[in-house]
Amino acid sequence: MYKTNSKNKMDGILLLSELKSSSTKAVFFDPQYRGVLDKLSYGNEGKSRGKLRSALPQMSEDTIKSFLVEIERVLSPSGYLFLWVDKFHLCEGISAWFADIPTMEIVDLITWNKLKMGMGYRTRRKSEYLVILQKVPKLAKATWKIHNIPDVWDEKVNKNHAHSKPIELQKMLIQAVTDIGDTVVDPAAGGYSVLDACLQTERQFIGCDIETEE
Ligand SMILES: C[S@@+](CC[C@H](N)C(=O)[O-])C[C@H]1O[C@@H](n2cnc3c(N)ncnc32)[C@H](O)[C@@H]1O
Repeated sequence: MYKTNSKNKMDGILLLSELKSSSTKAVFFDPQYRGVLDKLSYGNEGKSRGKLRSALPQMSEDTIKSFLVEIERVLSPSGYLFLWVDKFHLCEGISAWFADIPTMEIVDLITWNKLKMGMGYRTRRKSEYLVILQKVPKLAKATWKIHNIPDVWDEKVNKNHAHSKPIELQKMLIQAVTDIGDTVVDPAAGGYSVLDACLQTERQFIGCDIETEE
């Protein structure tokens, strides 16, 4: 059993299975991709630069699909999924993950400029991508309250986790699609940036990570 507004050490699919159907307006999901490591062929994975990342539990495509089926179930009608993807998945597409979930539609995309140079054998990565999906029925005006969020977002992150995401952006998105007191879910929370965003916006957080420190 999970605790609200806490760092729960558990499998995200188990946590999602404990939630009622149609019970939340917003879910953040930031999978620990295996694919990008394979595709970018870091020869040194696990040795030097890849070490921090490859040490985290990775998710297979089937695991990611299982998460998405559960996320769709717990989202209320017209609820939003904020799905972090890397450059590889953005280019190759994520539609295969949703082949069996026709009730989720891609409605927007935000590029996060990390203001910091990362790795890459050709160009070096400085951005990540947030795909925004909405459960049917697709409704914009009735479900989105903040209208000055740019689709390129500059924010530097003070890392407390290898994959920490920008808190100010996540706060804006939470405020755009939920009300004070609403619940926001993050079933693979890593450094718990979404928990911090919820505490700062007076939302209830339900989330976990399989590797949460106890
Ligand atoms: C990309 S990180 C999330 C970073 C997070 N968004 C943040 O801002 O700090 C992905 C996380 O998924 C976790 N993870 C992998 N498999 C999991 C599972 N089955 N259930 C829950 N968490 C899992 C990893 O331990 C890792 O911390």
